[in-house]
Amino acid sequence: AAIEKGNYRHFMQKEIFEQPTVVAQTLSSYIRQVDQTVALPQFDFDLSTINRVTIVACGTSYYAGMVAKYWFEQFARLPVDIDFASEFRYREPVLEPGGLALFISQSGETADTLAALRHCKQHGQTIAVVVNVPTSSMAREADLLLPTHAGPEIGVASTKAFTCQLAVLAALAAHMAVARGRMTRAEEAEVVVHLLQAPASLNAALAHDADIAAMAHLIAPARDVLYLGRGPDYPLALEGALKLKEISYIHAEGYASGEMKHGPIALIDEAVPVIVLAPSGPLFEKTVSNMQEVRARGGKIVLVSDRAGLDEAGEGCLATIEMPRVHPLIAPLVYAVPVQLIAYHVACVKGTDVDQPRNLAKSVTVE
Ligand code: G6P
Repeated sequence: AAIEKGNYRHFMQKEIFEQPTVVAQTLSSYIRQVDQTVALPQFDFDLSTINRVTIVACGTSYYAGMVAKYWFEQFARLPVDIDFASEFRYREPVLEPGGLALFISQSGETADTLAALRHCKQHGQTIAVVVNVPTSSMAREADLLLPTHAGPEIGVASTKAFTCQLAVLAALAAHMAVARGRMTRAEEAEVVVHLLQAPASLNAALAHDADIAAMAHLIAPARDVLYLGRGPDYPLALEGALKLKEISYIHAEGYASGEMKHGPIALIDEAVPVIVLAPSGPLFEKTVSNMQEVRARGGKIVLVSDRAGLDEAGEGCLATIEMPRVHPLIAPLVYAVPVQLIAYHVACVKGTDVDQPRNLAKSVTVE
């Protein structure tokens, strides 16, 4: 049956709003509720022998990989290398025995990613694939196939596939941590509890759709926009900038909050909105001082944070967007929602073709 937009204006909008459901669907195939453990699909190699992870992907899938790097390091204490698929093969990467090469792709057909997969296979790596199309080329060539259950994604700019990728990657990182003796069963159960909280938190984030739609009018006239984030939310800043470029055609850059003073701060003036993605927590103070650096130069800030963060630093912002207070593990999933909705609503204000942006393809099958 043809996929319909239903009551939504665009497929992208529908797909953004499907996230609580499809993330829950995806998680249900990776979590065993009875004993609160993470379970992976069948595979026949010994996970505990993996000594290194190489992550390769393109576009939004690449940013999911960047988030996962934090989790593999933090939970499993595994060294992680990550690269864009188009760069990876040409830099003579060091691929030693015991390496897991992890490919992330919505379509499973992106030419650069597929070529990188074959390169890794030839160099003796175990191949894991996080993919949304189970019949795709990448799925067929995997030693460990990790499907996302986002359902067909029609909008060219990826949304629901991204949050489902994050859900699978968090589960994989926890599972590998347990396999390597770096995570206790009790800690694994905690991870499971946090992950199972994600769908409700995604819903809470989506509840701020109208605030974001109202705020979009402030961003739409900008020529440049800067996104800032720290830690696992830094890749979300990159994803925010990518989404805005893709569908609203506004130039945007994502930066690690603390790195802004080494360059992009030179761009700051009243005309460059700075969107700060900052859940409250131990590093929030540092972000607040980065915000002060922006303000001191007349910069206008849109702060995306939880109640505690907005209470502490929301005053004097151009706009604030409230997120639910969430465990840091699921923050990248939850903060994906405002990132997507900002791009979506700005594009609507500008009247661009949201589902079929100019010059872009859903699946890029040329290298
Ligand atoms: C294209 C799409 C993006 C997507 C990227 C990677 O550029 O427009 O939305 O993130 O390809 O695609 P993949 O299917 O490999 O995730």
